[in-house]
Amino acid sequence: MSGNNLRRFGVSMEESLLENFDILIEKKGYTNRSEAVRDLVRESLLRNKWEENDNVVAGCILLFYDHHQRNLVGEMTDIQHDFHDVILATTHFHLDHQNCLEMIVVKGKTQSLRTLRDKLASLKGVKYCKLSVSPVSES
Ligand code: NI
Repeated sequence: MSGNNLRRFGVSMEESLLENFDILIEKKGYTNRSEAVRDLVRESLLRNKWEENDNVVAGCILLFYDHHQRNLVGEMTDIQHDFHDVILATTHFHLDHQNCLEMIVVKGKTQSLRTLRDKLASLKGVKYCKLSVSPVSES
């Protein structure tokens, strides 16, 4: 792999923005700004990569919901069956008498995982629904 030589470039930003950035850097334990900027750039490149709809990514959908909500469990099951080709596993936790936590492990194209997430998130009784993924192959 080429391009591992460090190159310097200048960055200008408003003073207040820089002050807040420095506070964040300290909180996160970076030793200098360059290191923090590199991490931000990497994170942003990764995010951009998985946002392209045709990329295959893997990760999980974390779902909190109220199982007393009428029809919710049935609707949720129907949706998961519709997306069986991208769902690897589902684990259910009964948090208390009312609340459930479900972890759905997924692998597939970004576009279909997003659609799955949006369908689940829009159900009545769902309190939290987040999709977190990473690209499967480096290219
Ligand atoms: Ni439950």
